[in-house]
Amino acid sequence: MDRPAPPAQPELEREFSERIAADERIEPRDWMPDGYRATLVRQIAQHAHSEIVGMQPEGNWITRAPSLRRKAILVAKVQDEAGHGLYLYSAAETLGADRSRLLDLLHEGRQKYSTIFNYPATSWADVAAIGWLVDGAAIMNQVPLTRCSYGPYARAMTRVCKEESFHQRQGFEAMSVLAKGTSAQRRMAQDALDRWWWPALMMFGPPDGQSPNSAQSMAWGIKRFSNDELRQRFVDATVPQAEHLGLQIPDPQLHRDGEHYRTGEIDWTEFQEVMRGNGPCNRQRLAARVRAHEDGAWVREAAAAYAEKHPAAA
Ligand code: 3HC
Repeated sequence: MDRPAPPAQPELEREFSERIAADERIEPRDWMPDGYRATLVRQIAQHAHSEIVGMQPEGNWITRAPSLRRKAILVAKVQDEAGHGLYLYSAAETLGADRSRLLDLLHEGRQKYSTIFNYPATSWADVAAIGWLVDGAAIMNQVPLTRCSYGPYARAMTRVCKEESFHQRQGFEAMSVLAKGTSAQRRMAQDALDRWWWPALMMFGPPDGQSPNSAQSMAWGIKRFSNDELRQRFVDATVPQAEHLGLQIPDPQLHRDGEHYRTGEIDWTEFQEVMRGNGPCNRQRLAARVRAHEDGAWVREAAAAYAEKHPAAA
């Protein structure tokens, strides 16, 4: 018996658009436009790369944490970031991406990770500021992704966001201990805020008028809010927190405008330069990432050999 001819492409595209319009979840086995798939692989891969490269600035402080409690919290957080990377590489694999290929693209500088991780963490207060500001910005950006139209990404984000809220709270708590501490500790906290504030605003991406991917990503239900909308939400949430800490946001133009706080102009030239690889730590971060990957080759080989010998356990 002849098999029915598969629906023509236009029919498939119409059905896909109707499903997106109805806010339905798209799953790995569903038909999807090539552009939708490619956009998701691009964004999920960069998100995963950001998680594992993001382990470095804080990871360097694990051996220098000021107490056993802080060390235990930091170890848990850095371990969480590794796990977030693994969830996200798994989500990319559901789209047909090859994990080792994605890592090659990262190592060759042909795929991005968030610019924020190319800044140095020069004092313990930076670890606090990263938790408070970087994870705070990440939550603002990731909570809408729990409603992303692509099922595996949205479900990965649900798990990630639960752990991110612990990351942000421990950072804010560490920051408040410093801000209420000695004058030297207060100076450390203010210095960290001065250095991490503007790069944290850049985490949300370029301004809406210079974001080539946003319109299509929003039409496909991948992005739920624009870069500027989420950035504004982050500013509105974080300025009162800085005031509570008794710290100054390093922006003389910052002012209240009704229910919002308006910032001065972000240095998009700096953003583009760091994105191009010319940030303070780009080379070290990528070199450390490549070294870790190469040093871990024996683990991958052993796991593959074991899986071959014990297929049932794989
Ligand atoms: N760092 C590096 N590249 C960035 C960037 C940033 N902060 N912001 C934007 N870009 C890149 C984009 O990737 C895009 O380049 P591409 O087309 O070559 O990929 C270009 O700049 C233009 O930006 P668009 O706004 O058009 O791109 P997107 O629509 O992809 O939006 C985004 C950018 C908002 C970052 C979006 O990709 C996103 O929401 N990604 C998922 C969240 C994420 O990756 N967060 C990064 C931090 S993860 C983290 O902080 C972990 C936490 O545990 C610490």
